Amino acid sequence: MSEITYKSGYEPHAREHRVIFRNVDRVGWDTSIDTALADGAYEQLRKALTMEPAAVTDEVKKAGLRGRGGAGFPAGVKWGFIPKGNTKPVYLICNADESEPGTFKDRYILHQDPHQLLEGMIISCFATGVHLAYIYIREEFPMAAKIVEKAIAEAHEKGFLGKNILDSGFDLEIYVHRGAGAYICGEETGLIESLEGKRAYPRIKPPYFPAAMGLYLCPTIVNNVETLCHVKHILEIGGEEWAKTGTKNNTGTRILCVSGDVQKPGYFEIEVGKLTLGEVINDMCGGMKPGRTLKAVIPGGSSSKVLRADETFTIGRGDDAKQISIWDIPMDFDSLAACGSMAGSGGVIVIDDSRSISWILNNINNFYAHESCGQCTPCREGSLWMKKITDRLVTGQASPSDIPRLDKVARSIEGRTICAFGEACSWPTEAFIEKFRDELVGDTRPELEGAVVNPETRIANAGLK
Ligand SMILES: Cc1cc2nc3c(=O)[nH]c(=O)nc-3n(C[C@H](O)[C@H](O)[C@H](O)COP(=O)(O)O)c2cc1C
Ligand code: SF4
Repeated sequence: MSEITYKSGYEPHAREHRVIFRNVDRVGWDTSIDTALADGAYEQLRKALTMEPAAVTDEVKKAGLRGRGGAGFPAGVKWGFIPKGNTKPVYLICNADESEPGTFKDRYILHQDPHQLLEGMIISCFATGVHLAYIYIREEFPMAAKIVEKAIAEAHEKGFLGKNILDSGFDLEIYVHRGAGAYICGEETGLIESLEGKRAYPRIKPPYFPAAMGLYLCPTIVNNVETLCHVKHILEIGGEEWAKTGTKNNTGTRILCVSGDVQKPGYFEIEVGKLTLGEVINDMCGGMKPGRTLKAVIPGGSSSKVLRADETFTIGRGDDAKQISIWDIPMDFDSLAACGSMAGSGGVIVIDDSRSISWILNNINNFYAHESCGQCTPCREGSLWMKKITDRLVTGQASPSDIPRLDKVARSIEGRTICAFGEACSWPTEAFIEKFRDELVGDTRPELEGAVVNPETRIANAGLK
């Protein structure tokens, strides 16, 4: 393979470990299949087609690949949930909705390396017995949809898709489906409803776990773009070897999307767990802005719980347990969960001491109130109430008792809804109140306490709609 140089200003940081983003922003790279083939594309597909499908799944299991879309669920285990003896068609859907605020990684793969995704998908389909697959691309990515459609046509022409792929007897078609322009279309069962042509109302689980009852009530695997790309790299070196990158139970590489108050925000592909949050902020992102200090970090997309800069956290168990500061948190699934948050979709949002917590929480709550699909009363009403209370906070119209009220609303949503949007919208409020109660109370006005007020009127008084 040729030596890689990157466009000026886009060179990977020395501590990155580029696998998935190897070709992103590379000099001389384009999305054509000829460029991809010259770089070794579809060689792992050739290899997979000589193997038993179950052996391909075994490699993915050995690799310990965990989903990069949010929950971090092991991909090989998910594939194994397709019911034994199933006689219905099995579908695979690539989730390219990328709608979690703070996340901007899948779009680079779609825009710059579509054949990497297609190869990963074709291998995954072969492993799981899928003959029809979809790439559900977010409405807001029209260019990505065009690029991927062209790549599908090229792959067809070269015999990597269609009937009897590379004379193996394996048939597969992949179609692009344009999303419906809503956050909830990224939730796997909402996505499936949308793909079926309906409004993206998530389905209740059980019974509608996609691997058992998904698209057209047939077994369906839903995986994130980045997750599916990893499959070809696992086949290239074998699951065990692949698992040597990253750390135990947190294997491989993943792309972090760092935004907010750092000097050099951007995407960084790292070995999972090999860097701490402090190394990401200070080494990779050039540190905080001049004269500013760290106030908090939202480590895995807007729905993950905020971490406060002066907290201490306990990671590890038994004799291995240790107390660490925010700077020392290893960037992996298990450590971030032990710190009370999550690695989520890889969107790291850095907040410095110039920021108002009320403003940030209001911004987040505005998003969730807009995006609730409205099926469940606690989520539909609660997300709007949380927005309205924080609207009051940012306009000086809130009273101190609004803070416990806000907390109560959030806790009345969590665990009482059809889909995990309920948690996604309530966790930020719960965590910000738990960790920044004094600042939030400081933005309220005691003289408003007990006044009989209509929240709508207060907002109208403050000149907001
Ligand atoms: C409200 C909500 C929005 C989601 N949005 C996305 C998304 O945009 N992209 C994504 O890959 N997963 C998203 N997910 C997670 C998916 O439901 C699903 O777990 C994921 O696509 C599985 O892929 P993975 O196992 O490869 O991570 C979302 C989940 C929820 C609850
Ligand atoms: S939790 Fe919210 S987004 Fe999910 S189904 Fe219920 S109303 Fe819709």
